[in-house]
Parts: sequence; structure tokens; C-alpha cells
Amino acid sequence: MTDFSTIYKLCLLTVTCCLQASSSSSSRCPAVECWLVQDHVGRRGATTQEKSLLHISTDANSRDAASEQIPSDIDLDTVFFITDPAATLCHQSLSPPTRGSVQKAQCEISPFLHQPSTLQWVAPLTVSGSSPVYLQADWFSAALLGLNKQLVISSIMRAPTGTKDSNVILSVSSRTVSVQARLGEPVLLDCGFWVDPSSPLSGSGFAVEWRYQFRGKGRLVLAYDGKTDRVADTQEEGASLDFEGLHQKGNASLILQETKVRHSGTYICTVHLPYLQAQVLMELEIVEPPSLSIHPSPLPLAVPGQTLVVQCEASGFAPLSLELSWEFKGADGKSRPLDSASVTGHRQAWDGTYSQSARLELDTSSLGMGGELTCVAVHPGGTRRASTSLSVIGFSSPSIEDSMAMVGVALVLYGLIKFVSWTISSSGTDGADKVEKKEK
Ligand SMILES: *[C@@H]1O[C@H](CO)[C@@H](O)[C@H](O)[C@H]1NC(C)=O
Repeated sequence: MTDFSTIYKLCLLTVTCCLQASSSSSSRCPAVECWLVQDHVGRRGATTQEKSLLHISTDANSRDAASEQIPSDIDLDTVFFITDPAATLCHQSLSPPTRGSVQKAQCEISPFLHQPSTLQWVAPLTVSGSSPVYLQADWFSAALLGLNKQLVISSIMRAPTGTKDSNVILSVSSRTVSVQARLGEPVLLDCGFWVDPSSPLSGSGFAVEWRYQFRGKGRLVLAYDGKTDRVADTQEEGASLDFEGLHQKGNASLILQETKVRHSGTYICTVHLPYLQAQVLMELEIVEPPSLSIHPSPLPLAVPGQTLVVQCEASGFAPLSLELSWEFKGADGKSRPLDSASVTGHRQAWDGTYSQSARLELDTSSLGMGGELTCVAVHPGGTRRASTSLSVIGFSSPSIEDSMAMVGVALVLYGLIKFVSWTISSSGTDGADKVEKKEK
């Protein structure tokens, strides 16, 4: 029994050791193909773009092994060995594509120029004016976009002068690269950052800035000074940060309490450290499908051959991208599209949503006894439909029963007329008699 338990313990120990070994080897992440983009001073602003490779590991000790696999088309001078303890660059969406896949992660790395910021809420981070010796190194900035826009990262790295052994000092990332939200909902724009705790820059405070951009115009959304822990400026009602998460976990996500149409656009999350900053961009689009109504409602009864004018009004939608059409479902239960719908120009309401209507001149002669008239609105936020019933009265080709009824009605009418005229004429003769009597 004791022997067995010893063997068992030994087995367990071996398994544990193996697991540990495998987990330590996973500190190496997949290499990322990247473009090294450099401006060359003196060559009249020429910019070169070279194929490059980023070897990434989460600790500096597991570097050497990685250097073996370098594709022949990549110049050894452009290969980077990056230590990223936070493993931000190890995200699976940055892994090399599998054979045959068209899509790839995007990556660009370029030399980074550190400098003190002149922004009012960032300037206090670099009060001393003299830059530390620590900055005397080669600095790089890498921008990465994961497959299917799962993730966007911007990292600032430091390499001792003349080497490509870089350490990530600051990483800013977002998992909400492209967000769609309904009108009036709260929305979260994700932004997280990580600062190398061993860097002399990490203890000196940080600042976060959210900016908004749309069609070339920009404005500040919110600026937060992490050194004095206060919101330096906010120009957007209902915009806030989770201040606890910001200091504890580097969660700089922006919360918009209630989305409005004017919130659609590009958002830029910038994290400042003394002399360094990194930023990520994301898109927010407010997508609200239309509400539909048909006028007049209900539709008046129509007689065959009459032309009815019907309007379908779509309102409260955004963005301005709408297709309005009409369908008719007759007694046979089959829907068919109706053409000749004319769509009006759009109007914009106070809340930024749009309205637009479609006018239909409906020739009832081809619609039998009537049926269901439907207005269809196709919008990025979904397809909406509104229906109303249409009755055509009378008869374009009378049935046997109709004819019989007509004959019946005619007969009754004839009888009535006869009866009435008889009563009048008989009462007329009575009167004449009386007159005659008086004369006597
Ligand atoms: C960041 O904070 C927001 C708001 O509190 C939260 O919803 C989100 O899950 C946080 N993100 C992370 C990565 O913790």
C-alpha cells in the first residue's frame, strides 16, 4: 500500500514538473510579422518600409532560442527581440495566419521620439525640465491591429542604444476597435494600459486623454491628470472613467452614459507618461433603425380604377442609409413588390436622427378585392415593416350572385315606384271628388 502511494506521489511530482516546464516555455509568444517604417533625415524626408519580425517573450531569459527561426526574406537587422512582461503582444489575434488565410494581423514599428508634452494636464509630469539618463536609448513605437479587429495595441519600447533587444515600457490597447450601439444606450469604449513597473518613469504619474474626431474635426472629450487625481477637463456630458480601475488596473475605458447620434465617430485614447505617450483609435457608430407609419391610416375604401395616394414615413433613424419600398399581398397570399414609389429628401430632427418618406400612387384596378399593403425599410440597424389592409369595393366583373341580386334590387325598386305612384294618384282623385262636392 505504502509503495503504491509513493509511486503515485512520484507520478504526481513528475506531472507537475512537466506542467511547469511547459508553462515556462510558453513565455515565448508567436513571432509577429511587422513593417519597419523609418524616416531618413537628409534624404529629403524619404520614408522606407522594410519587412521585419518581432520576437516576443514575457521574460528576458527565454530570448536566445527564438533567434534561430528567421525567414530568409527578412534582414537580420530588422529583427526585434521584445520583452513584454504584460504579454499584451501575445494575444492570439496577432499570431501568424494559418496557411491559405487571406487576412493577417497588421503591424508597424518605427523609431519613437520622446519629448515632454506641452499639454496643460500632462506638463506637470515633466516639471524638472531635464530629461533623465534613462531616456538615452533607442526608442521604438509599435502599432498592431489584431485579426478581425479584435484588438488594437500601441506599445512604446526601449532598447539600449544600438541593439534590438527592446523592453516594452508602455502599452495601450483596446478590444473595442469598432463598436455599434443603439441610440440612448450606455456604451463602453475599452482602453487599457500597462507601464513597466521597473521603469523609472512608472512612479511619476500618468495622464489620460480621450479625444473625438469626425470628418477632420476634433474635440476633447475628457482629460484626466493621474498625478493630482483630478479630471482636468471634460467637454462631454455623461462621459466618465472608472477612476478606481484606472489606478488599480490601468483601466482607462470611457463610459458614455447615453449615446446620441453626434457620438458617432473616431475616439482616441492617449496615455501619457513623462516624455512618452501611446494612443489607440476606435470607431463608434450609433445605429438606430427607423420607426414606420403609413398614412392615411386606415386606408379609405377604394373603388376599382381609383388611384390611392399612400405615404410611408420612416423616422428616428441613423445613420442616413435607408431603402424604402412597397409590397402588396393579394388574396392569393403571395407578396409582390410594387414599383413607382418615390422617396422624398431627408430631414434631420433635433436629436440628429433622420426621417424620410416614400409616396405611392396606387392604381387599385389591378388589386382585385384588395389585400395587405406593406412598407419595407432596409437599414443597417435592421429591416422594419409596416402593413395596412386595403379593401377595394364594387365589382369590375360582376358574379352570378351579384347579377341576381341586381335583378332582385331592380324588381323591388320597380315595385316600390309603382306602389308610390299609385298611392299619389289615388289620393289625388279623392281630393278632386271633395272639390266637386263643395261646388255642389
Ligand atoms: C474597465 O472598467 C469598466 C467600467 O467599470 C468595466 O466595465 C470593464 O469591464 C473594465 N475592463 C477591464 C478590462 O477590467
